[in-house]
Amino acid sequence: MKTTAIIGGSGLTELDSLNITHEKEIATPYGKPSAACVFGELAGQKIIFLARHGNPHRIAPHKINYRANLWALKQAGAEQIIAVAAVGGITPQMPPAKIAIPNQMIDYSYGREHTYFAEDENAVKHIDFTMPYDKTLRQQLINSANDLTIEATGVYACTQGPRLETAAEIRRLERDGCDLVGMTGMPEAILARELEIPYACCAVVANWAAGKVEGEISMDEIMQNLEQGMADTKQLLQQFFLSN
Ligand code: HPA
Repeated sequence: MKTTAIIGGSGLTELDSLNITHEKEIATPYGKPSAACVFGELAGQKIIFLARHGNPHRIAPHKINYRANLWALKQAGAEQIIAVAAVGGITPQMPPAKIAIPNQMIDYSYGREHTYFAEDENAVKHIDFTMPYDKTLRQQLINSANDLTIEATGVYACTQGPRLETAAEIRRLERDGCDLVGMTGMPEAILARELEIPYACCAVVANWAAGKVEGEISMDEIMQNLEQGMADTKQLLQQFFLSN
């Protein structure tokens, strides 16, 4: 099997089932990654783990050095990436604690360093991004669900954060065709594509998106749903590594 990197998001700062062999701080031309790369083994497979928001969790979505993170994973030997990300659920099939493997995305973020091809005018490249997630890796994740009920598709909206959305913004995202909303999907996915590393997302629904239920969204509610969703995600990953 290819060496797999797992990028852990909110609710997954550490992978406790990983038999850690070593950790390495990797310097990049783009600065420091969010954390050291953690090398280890899970279900007999070689894994590299990176905590997207740092460990402990401290870097806001718009402040993450995505270019350094992806570059470091490439340097570390990652041949494919599974990005675990907490999201809000917009459409009825995306209730709290559900896992979804999105197949499309819309990027609403702004002002982030979002390409490796900006330094030198001669190096401008227009990369195909028709299908933002790797087909094979997505299918392998979907096949690993076993008795977990997961959503095998979904459109991921990437907002800027760190604030949550207004109810009207969520209605707009829904009209745009989005099922899920998170803050870190981009530019992570395109940077992986630019580095030619297959990338797929395992989205864990933490809450109903703004305006989808009465009242405000609380961090307590988010953390509680994430606990269940991340437990299921670990099961999904375990099965993924056992069966591939
Ligand atoms: N919106 C954006 N990002 C999120 C949400 C949300 O409701 N929940 C978890 N990440």
